[in-house]
Amino acid sequence: MTRSLVLGASGGIGAALAARLGREGDVVGLSRSGDGLDVTDAEAVDRVLGALDPAFDVVMVATGILAPEGHAPEKALDAIDANAMARTFAVNAIGPALVLRHMPRLLAPGGRVGVLTARVGSIGDNRMGGWYSYRAAKAAANQVVRTASVELARRVKGSVVAALHPGTVETPFTEGYKAKKLSPEESADRLIGVLLGLEETGVFRDWKGEAVEW
Ligand SMILES: NC(=O)c1ccc[n+]([C@@H]2O[C@H](COP(=O)([O-])OP(=O)(O)OC[C@H]3O[C@@H](n4cnc5c(N)ncnc54)[C@H](OP(=O)(O)O)[C@@H]3O)[C@@H](O)[C@H]2O)c1
Repeated sequence: MTRSLVLGASGGIGAALAARLGREGDVVGLSRSGDGLDVTDAEAVDRVLGALDPAFDVVMVATGILAPEGHAPEKALDAIDANAMARTFAVNAIGPALVLRHMPRLLAPGGRVGVLTARVGSIGDNRMGGWYSYRAAKAAANQVVRTASVELARRVKGSVVAALHPGTVETPFTEGYKAKKLSPEESADRLIGVLLGLEETGVFRDWKGEAVEW
């Protein structure tokens, strides 16, 4: 039976991931609003994750923000605000790093970690511009994931660590977007299938399983 951990289980995609993984086995779902797991607070991360018993077969990191409250993704250089940018990095890039710090202890041999980043974090694929803080923070998160995958391959035998793009999903995150959206359930279902089907670690994949350019 699979034992899973979902961080950001209060979010649109996180809740669907927890429900989907609950059909496979035991799930521990944690969030900032429910459990005090604020990923920008290193002590909170250590307290909440330090209290968990190992070991998990699947870990999904589904926390993230598009922009801090009162801010929106930047349309131009003039809109860059240092504090908002730092906050976006704290949640989207440093947060997953603080979580990954616990994986050597929490991950089962052969365990799999998926970190939800975003296609717009791809540097090679960036042709539209804009969204400086979110794009840069997700690119940093991708580098953290890739680097952790190298270390965890040595420290947790058979581990797989991947950056995942969930698609454009109908959640509070995409409120006001006109684009065609996936349901959180469909995204969660596809993401789990992609993560469980991976044959190599340190990859960046979308919800269809297609490689995304770093
Ligand atoms: N939706 C999309 O189309 C889309 C596209 C590409 C990438 N993504 C990525 O997918 C992930 C999940 O997105 P979503 O659509 O499910 O968003 P969502 O519904 O807004 O959920 C966001 C989650 O992040 C948590 N969170 C925010 N700040 C946090 C903090 N400081 N510490 C801990 N948790 C924090 C929220 O927790 P609380 O509610 O408990 O505060 C919530 O669980 C994000 O990383 C996002 O960048 C989403």
